[in-house]
Amino acid sequence: MKNIALIGFMGTGKSTVANCLNSKFSMEIIEMDKLIEEREDMKISEIFREKGEEYFRGLETQLLIELQSKENVVISCGGGAAMRACNVEAMKKNGRIVLLTATPETILSRVKDNTDRPLLRGNMNISYIRQLMDERRPKYEAAADVIVSTDDKTVLQICEEILEKILEMDEQNV
Ligand code: S3P
Repeated sequence: MKNIALIGFMGTGKSTVANCLNSKFSMEIIEMDKLIEEREDMKISEIFREKGEEYFRGLETQLLIELQSKENVVISCGGGAAMRACNVEAMKKNGRIVLLTATPETILSRVKDNTDRPLLRGNMNISYIRQLMDERRPKYEAAADVIVSTDDKTVLQICEEILEKILEMDEQNV
């Protein structure tokens, strides 16, 4: 099976969904942010603060290129990873791209107590989230093979919907 790249705004549930695909459906997962933190031995917020956002974006691109050679893995991407065309190209090389969505209200309720999202520091409010989401939406939607909304659903329902939609896609391509 091809890889599954989970993309979408911060707080759309990419990591939670990836963990569920791992535990319930035995799929191997790669959490981009976590791997970057391990390799750099720094938290994402420290990388942004000490080395800058561009440096972090370079690490994301490097990692996605490296992951092209993998198979059967779920890649939980950072929320900004789908903004660069070359990243999307790398995701598509060997995988399906699944976009997770949620309303700004849902996002805020999920991320409000988290302090390791540098882009939301001092911006933890609906209007900022809505604005950044509106800016990013065209690129998210253009990249996606499959779109799944996560509002008011259980994580298991979301995983089942993802797998169903991917299967449908595969059948249509036969
Ligand atoms: C970012 C999202 C974060 C992380 C970094 C930048 C973004 O990942 O990669 O803080 O640009 O949207 P999550 O989407 O997992 O929060």
